[in-house]
Amino acid sequence: MMRKNLIAGNWKMYKTPKESVEFVKQLKDAVKVYNDREILVCPAFTSLFPVSEILKDTSVKFGAQNAYFEDEGAFTGEVSVKMLQDIGVNYVICGHSERRNIFMETDTDINKKIMKTIAAGIVAILCVGEKLEEREQGKTFDVIERQITKCLDNIEDIKNIVIAYEPVWAIGTGKNATQEQAKDVHRFIRGLIEKLYGKESAENIQILYGGSVKPENIDLLMGEEDIDGVLVGGASLKLDSFLRIIDYKNGG
Ligand code: PGA
Repeated sequence: MMRKNLIAGNWKMYKTPKESVEFVKQLKDAVKVYNDREILVCPAFTSLFPVSEILKDTSVKFGAQNAYFEDEGAFTGEVSVKMLQDIGVNYVICGHSERRNIFMETDTDINKKIMKTIAAGIVAILCVGEKLEEREQGKTFDVIERQITKCLDNIEDIKNIVIAYEPVWAIGTGKNATQEQAKDVHRFIRGLIEKLYGKESAENIQILYGGSVKPENIDLLMGEEDIDGVLVGGASLKLDSFLRIIDYKNGG
């Protein structure tokens, strides 16, 4: 299999610039060299520049948690992809469920953000996932299909896109999806990508799982063939737990 796995930390609104710098200094010194996996941290905007200075010549990549789709202008409070590109950002998380549910981002907004991100040569991590009531009503696959189809609308080339399946009910709750539940959705997503973009794209795309990933469940999750990595919130904030997750065993 050609695709590598990706272990990504989403720090959300945690860590000051000083704390972030301290963390990545320790991370880059402690992390092993791997051929089969990529490692990414996504700090808050205020920390991105100092973090970029420390990580730029290392194997650890850095990314943003969001970006705006205009280059510049009267958009108070926003940060553009162009600004992120200038400091060498490798990834942008697009459409995290907290952006969707707290900040009311729509699939159309996310589509524009992804287009802008990949046009800049940066990898977009598209987050999708159902809410608890949607799962209970048997709508999981419909929700995922709608989110992916709309967010990838008019995008022809997906080589710089990663998809993260993050069931909303599993985020920050301590209750991860079972290996079985994650596997079913990951298979569904790969099948959908095959339908939309063909077999080669489906084989190459990285599909991550996110939602209460921790040292205790990482090995099981990574044992699944269709799980190509994880997007980790809480457990990426502490060096020892993040290092253990990075060092997962028996990747599928
Ligand atoms: P969690 O968050 O690992 O804290 O559940 C995951 C995410 O929101 O990306």
